[in-house]
Amino acid sequence: MAPTVLITGIGELTTNDDELGQLRDAALVLDGERVAWVGPAAQAPDADERVDVEGRAVLPGWVDSHTHLVFAGDRTAEFAARMAGEPYQAGGIAVTVAATRAASDSDLADGVRRHVAESVSQGTTYLETKTGYGLTVEDEVRSARLAGEYVDEVTFLGAHLVPEDWDGDEYVRLVCGEMLDAVAPHVRWADVFCESGAFDEEQSRAVLQAAKKRGLGLRVHGNQLGPGPGVQLAVELGAASVDHCTYLESNDIEALAESDTVATLLPACDLSTRQPLANARDLIDTGATIALASNCNPGSSYTSSMAFCVATAVLQMHLSVAEAVRAATWGGARALRRESGDDAIGVLGPGARADVHVLDAPSTTWLAYRPGVPMTHAVWRKGTRVR
Ligand code: NIG
Repeated sequence: MAPTVLITGIGELTTNDDELGQLRDAALVLDGERVAWVGPAAQAPDADERVDVEGRAVLPGWVDSHTHLVFAGDRTAEFAARMAGEPYQAGGIAVTVAATRAASDSDLADGVRRHVAESVSQGTTYLETKTGYGLTVEDEVRSARLAGEYVDEVTFLGAHLVPEDWDGDEYVRLVCGEMLDAVAPHVRWADVFCESGAFDEEQSRAVLQAAKKRGLGLRVHGNQLGPGPGVQLAVELGAASVDHCTYLESNDIEALAESDTVATLLPACDLSTRQPLANARDLIDTGATIALASNCNPGSSYTSSMAFCVATAVLQMHLSVAEAVRAATWGGARALRRESGDDAIGVLGPGARADVHVLDAPSTTWLAYRPGVPMTHAVWRKGTRVR
């Protein structure tokens, strides 16, 4: 049996638990993969091991609910051109598709492993990632299989771009038929890039309906490069999240506020593609649930830093630190429908998964107060100390 671990000397503990709230002078006990006890340090039970974090702030590990980690190559030249004034276009995805198809299994796996390690070292303890740089039956299955070895949740994104030499509707038939059949056993979710230059509303609806019929949960890339039907479609079909939400009309915000669909905002992507930052303030004020995620990928957002996303949300998107931290932990968990029940993530209460992030700071406020400064002191992932 794994030894129990008492983490004590916590100056500020963010639990995301409605009853526990935020505690000062607190302690946590981890028992194997779960949190066993949370409360005032003075009342903490004994444990096999004791770690004194000397007044530091502790919070649930980041939940990065939107990444694209199965890829080869990079797009440095495209990024440089963009910073010189070129627009971001969905077509850039094809460059990564070519590199990914040409890569060996072991090179692709090394890349996923490296990026997951990079994320974990910065306090991310739960990761979703997508296929979508294969776009053949064989390459999408390969991507899903490799991803499943290293991340917690895998999403099928065969409908990322219409591959060269394909007619859009014909490709959608492949995605909804043979490709979905082959990939479904390896994934929990399906996603579609509903955007001009990728898949239109009807094509996106067909992909999502086929995936739903197969029993997969739904996610949507929507309203990234301009206003569009993505948000409404996601809400209509009961998707767990619609991601990007950079260009929202007021009826999109209202629809999200009245639904269970999480608006997953990707500020690093908005900055890296020179788009406006998503309107997080109106979403929250209208009653929508938001998540923050990195969107780590080689084209539109090549960062794994959730702390950067949180700092941007506070400094530029007018969220409070508490709102931004909650969106990057509990919000991500909600977007993956893992925020409650046994093994809940994004929360530190009894029974939750033991995913703990200790900051080298007395308060989560420092995430925005000291932007860009490495802030991770220690990390437990599923009860194992990984940093
Ligand atoms: O979420 N929008 C579509 N997919 C990715 C970008 C992929 C790329 O440019 O390679 C995104 O931003």
